[in-house]
Amino acid sequence: MCGIIGYIGIEECYPIIMDGLRKMEYRGYDSYGIAVCENHKIELRKHVGKISEDGSKSIPGKMGIGHTRWATHGNVTEKNAHPHFDNKKDIAIVHNGIIENFSWLKKMLEKHGHKFRSDTDSEVIAHLIETYYKGDLEKAVYKAVGLLEGTYGILAIQMSEEKIVAARNGSPVVIGVSESGNIIASDVSAIVQKTKDIIYLKDGQMASVTKDNVRIMGRTFRKIENEIEKIEWDIKEIEKKGFKHFMLKEIMEQPESLQNTMLGRIKNDSIKLSTGLSKDFLQNMRRVVITACGTSWHAAIVGKYLIEKMCNIPVEVDYASEFRYRDPLIGKDDLVIVISQSGETADTLAALHEAKKKGVKTLGIVNVVGSTIARESENGIYIHAGPEIGVASTKAFTSQIISLILLALSINQELGKNVDEELLKSLKSIPEKISSVLETSAGIRNVAEYFYNHPNALYLGRGINFPVALEGALKLKEISYIHAEGYPAAEMKHGPIALVDEKMPVVFIANKNGESYKKIMSNMQEIKARNGVIITIATEGDEEIKKISDHVIYVPKCREELMPIINTIPLQLLAYHIADLKGLDPDKPKNLAKSVTVE
Ligand code: AGP
Repeated sequence: MCGIIGYIGIEECYPIIMDGLRKMEYRGYDSYGIAVCENHKIELRKHVGKISEDGSKSIPGKMGIGHTRWATHGNVTEKNAHPHFDNKKDIAIVHNGIIENFSWLKKMLEKHGHKFRSDTDSEVIAHLIETYYKGDLEKAVYKAVGLLEGTYGILAIQMSEEKIVAARNGSPVVIGVSESGNIIASDVSAIVQKTKDIIYLKDGQMASVTKDNVRIMGRTFRKIENEIEKIEWDIKEIEKKGFKHFMLKEIMEQPESLQNTMLGRIKNDSIKLSTGLSKDFLQNMRRVVITACGTSWHAAIVGKYLIEKMCNIPVEVDYASEFRYRDPLIGKDDLVIVISQSGETADTLAALHEAKKKGVKTLGIVNVVGSTIARESENGIYIHAGPEIGVASTKAFTSQIISLILLALSINQELGKNVDEELLKSLKSIPEKISSVLETSAGIRNVAEYFYNHPNALYLGRGINFPVALEGALKLKEISYIHAEGYPAAEMKHGPIALVDEKMPVVFIANKNGESYKKIMSNMQEIKARNGVIITIATEGDEEIKKISDHVIYVPKCREELMPIINTIPLQLLAYHIADLKGLDPDKPKNLAKSVTVE
């Protein structure tokens, strides 16, 4: 959840580290800090608040480390911000992850005279390294991490050594290699400004990085070679391009991101999706289990409706955090799909490990290229939505749904079933349809003006649009702090209806072409009878719906399988405009972080 970065090279490190921290601020933004080493002295600076508001002077030096924090242990204070020193202030570290045995380690170190300055779990790492330091930072880090339980991406410097030592277990560490120096970070976005040549550190590995060399070591401390990979990111992709917020930019980008998800995958009315799943396996496949967290979990529920309907295969959906602990009943004829935008979510990664441990075939649907889940899934589909910086997931969700549709189509194709040509045609038209929904943004802002000072809201949908209701409610609560619940529309009668009165906005997803249109109209009547205020996402041309709705947002007609994509766009815009009207920053909602790498 935190972002870590280090630079060593021929340039001044401060601006490079600060720029990297700004790029990674979406990982955590309650406090930040930087340590720079020059002339055998480490200067440390820490701040509470946002890096974008930083006005401090730079520190001279060509080697340093930095950190942007999402608090896990200890309040948001300057003393708890990283980097952390050892006792003597010779060693400084930054850490992303959680050290589970830190209290035990802390007690042990305190008995040996170590004095702690923070309430964090991370500080023990600096003191442990100090304990083992005998003039060789690599060896000291190696011995220290041997005692750590939990997850970590660590960077360490020592005042007399011209190197940064990195270690990884469960939290990402990537190294960018360039002629003017090397950058190590938890995120490619912090590196791409300098270089596109990347080395991914694997779990259990360490790296010793000097200004002109990178040495990787495996679990036994022996030197090993990791390939240098070229990333295709462009720095422009992680800039706001004139939009007020990343979230708005990412919502508006969806015609293009969806196009990219489909690029090269639909050719001459057939699907070209290389999933790695063999015909043999698919013929005997008994069941699909999809597991994920948050928005990706909502995409998983859409996937259940899609795959069951299109392929006639039973699908179960589980929260990754439940799946990983409940000893799931899965076997060799099952396919476990894990969905993750970041590819680093701790619970989703653990669910993947659980499935692999049980010998079950796995498939990852991931956005971030080279992320841990992408690398560890046996088979996979990249959604190619491009970097998603806004903490609230938007374009990744719609690309995940398209990927699930392509997967269902490719399973059918592989099994010799007729390809649904009409659906293929609709898929090709989706970017254009999304563009037309995006044009209604101004009208959606008017609805937001009514909505934004209400404390609660209900989102209701049926069938394949039930997860859309869940996603609409999640978007709203994440960035506007309005309490919102998503429900299957009929379920509303079994409890939530007690909350409905003239102060309760109720958002309905009620497409005329949907199978359940008539049923949802009855649910709308039930809300109206209790004076609830109805906001409806309806199909263009549906004049009838105006009679019962207080506000209508029209979306174009489309195949039912694609409606969750079309319907989600206005809900993303609604949440965005509400947060903006409340003067909130939707890119950095309180208490949240983009990549949840802790359990
Ligand atoms: C989405 O808006 C959230 N910020 C969050 O629920 C997110 O979807 C979840 O943490 C899963 O992330 P992942 O897709 O990167 O695994």
